[in-house]
Order: sequence, then C-alpha cells, then structure tokens
Amino acid sequence: MNSVEKALLKVGNLSIGFSQYFKGTQKRVIRPITDMHVEIGEGEIVAVVGASGSGKSLLAHAVLGILPGNAICSGSIVYRGEELTEKRKAQLRGREISFIPQSVNYLDPLMRVGRFVQIGMNKNTALAEQEKLFAQYGLKKSDGRLFPFELSGGMLRRVMFATSVRQGVKLVIADEPTPGIHPQALSDILRQLKQFALDGAGVMFITHDIMSALEIADRVAVIKDGATVEISDAAAFEGKGERLKTEYAQRLWRALPQNDFDSEYKGRAAGEQWR
Ligand SMILES: Nc1ncnc2c1ncn2[C@@H]1O[C@H](COP(=O)(O)OP(=O)(O)OP(=O)(O)O)[C@@H](O)[C@H]1O
Ligand SMILES: [Mg+2]
Repeated sequence: MNSVEKALLKVGNLSIGFSQYFKGTQKRVIRPITDMHVEIGEGEIVAVVGASGSGKSLLAHAVLGILPGNAICSGSIVYRGEELTEKRKAQLRGREISFIPQSVNYLDPLMRVGRFVQIGMNKNTALAEQEKLFAQYGLKKSDGRLFPFELSGGMLRRVMFATSVRQGVKLVIADEPTPGIHPQALSDILRQLKQFALDGAGVMFITHDIMSALEIADRVAVIKDGATVEISDAAAFEGKGERLKTEYAQRLWRALPQNDFDSEYKGRAAGEQWR
C-alpha cells in the first residue's frame, strides 16, 4: 500500500509542551514532545514503541483531543485529508476514532459499566448492542450492572475493548492494551486488534511489548525522548536488525531477551529503560 496516498491519519512535526508554575508565580514551559510523526493507513496496524516516558500516550491524547488544559500543542494532525481541530476531534472521539486507554481509570467510577459502553449508541438498541458486545468479549449480561470497582482488571480491559467497538470506527488507538496479562488474554487482544484492521480500520497500537506488536503490526514507529526516530516495516525487525535504519532501533531490537541480550548492546539500550 502506498501509505502516503492512503493515509488515514498523518501526524507531522508534533510538539507538545506544558506550561507550569514554579516558585509560586513564575511560569515555564516543559516540552516532552518535540518532533513526532506517524502515519497510519486504512486497514493498517502501526505499532508505536518506546521507553516509558518517551511520549506515546501524549501522542494518542493529542490525536484524540484529550490533552490537559495547560498543554500547548503544535504541528499537524491530518485525518482523512482534513486537519483536525479540537472541535472535530471531539466530534470524532468515541465514534469514528475509538480509544482503548492505558488506564482503566478512564471509566467513570460512578457509572455502571454496561451504561458506559452504551454511551453514544442509539437509545432503542443500545442495551441489546451492549449485551452483544459483552458476550463477544466474554462478559456476562449481569456484569453490565456492575460498577468499575466491582470488576477485575482483566474484565475492565474487556469493557474498554467493548467500548471501542462502534459501527463506523475508522481509527482505533490502543494505548498499552496488554500490560501484564497472561498469554491467552494477550493473544485474544492481539486477535481483536487485528480484527479491527481486517474490518478496514487503521490501528495505532502503543506498546512496550515489541514482540507482541510484531505479531500483528505492519509497521513500527520507534519513539525516543518525544521524537520519532524511525518508522520501519515490521519485517525489518529480524536477524540482528540489519535492515533497521537507526542505531537506536537496532539496539532496542538486539537487547531483547529473545535476541540473547546481545552483550555488545546490553545495558546501553533496553535493560532498565525498556520494560
Ligand atoms: N500533564 C502533564 N504535564 C507535564 N508533563 C507531562 C504531562 N503528561 C505527560 N507528561 C510528560 O511527558 C512525557 C511523556 O509522557 P507519556 O505519558 O506520553 O509517556 P509514555 O511513553 O506513554 O510512557 P509509558 O510507557 O510509561 O506509558 C513524560 O516525561 C511525562 O512526564
Ligand atoms: Mg503511556
């Protein structure tokens, strides 16, 4: 696919800063994101990988229009050929653009989870639709009446997935949907993400787990300190990483346990940085 022509989402030169007060009244701006770019085509899965704090969630939040009020954002975010305004982001969010957040705290603690999933659905069919989604994600009908605190972490995550499935979803942004889960649940989640893509949606799959990402991703964007350092085909992550363009991506790749923690690189890249 020519991803440039068919780009569903094109983020270019994204920069995000936060204005903060310090010493009481003085203001300063910290700038964790300086130059991020990523492109996702229809039906394409792009994994976004990078160390903790590198700016992956901020990228997702910028596209979704849910950055905090003190954020200062510049650069371009083009979706289906149209530069996204904050107003447009709000219109698309939860509809054409769905979000599986990193933290289940995004669920309203005072709302029954079934009701949460029904938000934005047609009133007449919402309950039936929600129950169908629950069944699809291995949740019981009666679970819909529970509050978030009454569900296990795994169940909450499945609720988040159910929330992200909508008629007409064109872009799915999944922020670290696979932290610390057992292998069966992991493969279920990968399969579900793959299904979004097979249904024609673009998927931004943010993760620390590069090996899982490679199982389903078409391309991988490597993020370091708030900037995109490399975007490569998933297939380039093989062997000793000879086909990767940057030394940073090669180091990350070679430092994975599966690649025997290549001693030459051990500690210089992954290790403490790369969970
Ligand atoms: N509201 C905020 N105000 C100031 N700095 C922030 C804010 N949100 C995030 N940051 C900073 O921006 C950087 C990137 O944060 P982000 O949450 O995007 O990282 P991440 O790559 O998603 O990390 P992780 O893998 O741990 O989820 C971090 O240094 C973080 O401290
Ligand atoms: Mg994050």
